[in-house]
Amino acid sequence: LKTPALTQQLLAWYDRHARDLPWRVPPHERKVGVVPDPYRVWLSEIMLQQTTVAAVKDYFTAFTAKWPKVEMLAEADADDVMKAWAGLGYYSRARNLKACAETVARDHGGRFPDTEEGLRALPGIGPYTAAAIAAIAFDQPAAVVDGNVERVMSRLRLIETPLPVAKPEIRAAMGELTPQERPGDFAQAVMDLGATICTPKRPACALCPWMEPCAARAAGVAETLPRKAAK
Ligand code: ADE
Repeated sequence: LKTPALTQQLLAWYDRHARDLPWRVPPHERKVGVVPDPYRVWLSEIMLQQTTVAAVKDYFTAFTAKWPKVEMLAEADADDVMKAWAGLGYYSRARNLKACAETVARDHGGRFPDTEEGLRALPGIGPYTAAAIAAIAFDQPAAVVDGNVERVMSRLRLIETPLPVAKPEIRAAMGELTPQERPGDFAQAVMDLGATICTPKRPACALCPWMEPCAARAAGVAETLPRKAAK
């Protein structure tokens, strides 16, 4: 399977412009086959579910300093975990976090399952999080689709069908571009593009590595996508 030119262009952009975030492999250590610790990927993805990158950073650093391994989080006092989570909101995430750590420690010898299916069987891990962990921590070419990815793909491919009906088409577009090598970097590159350039309002198309192939940009409608079904 050949990596599409579009994919290579975005990975090259990521190599220069990726946000340096505490759960990622540091820029100078990044190369094919180097992946971050699944425990750190899992923790970051749970924290990022309904919370911004800016808000998550310090919580992630504090959690991983206090509980550097999944077994330690599994053994932690539940009240301490809730206290460390305080301020992040959506507290069911913190309860599931503890339950998931306990399951991984007890039933999986402290190692996260390396398939989407295995990951989805764990408390608090849904389809998005399973795909993200499989791609980022286990180098599997899973199509990772969050809100940023929906926006970028609907613009790149001029998908004018409203959400949520467009979801399968968006997933297919992401799947076609996801490479066998560096699938996790690719997923995070699309997220970073959506967060920093392909923004909901006033996208910075002039700075975008996908400006030329972007069908919505060519049609002059980038800012209007993705469409949402009228409520
Ligand atoms: N949002 C969810 N997961 C993310 C990641 N790995 N990097 C940046 N933003 C994200």
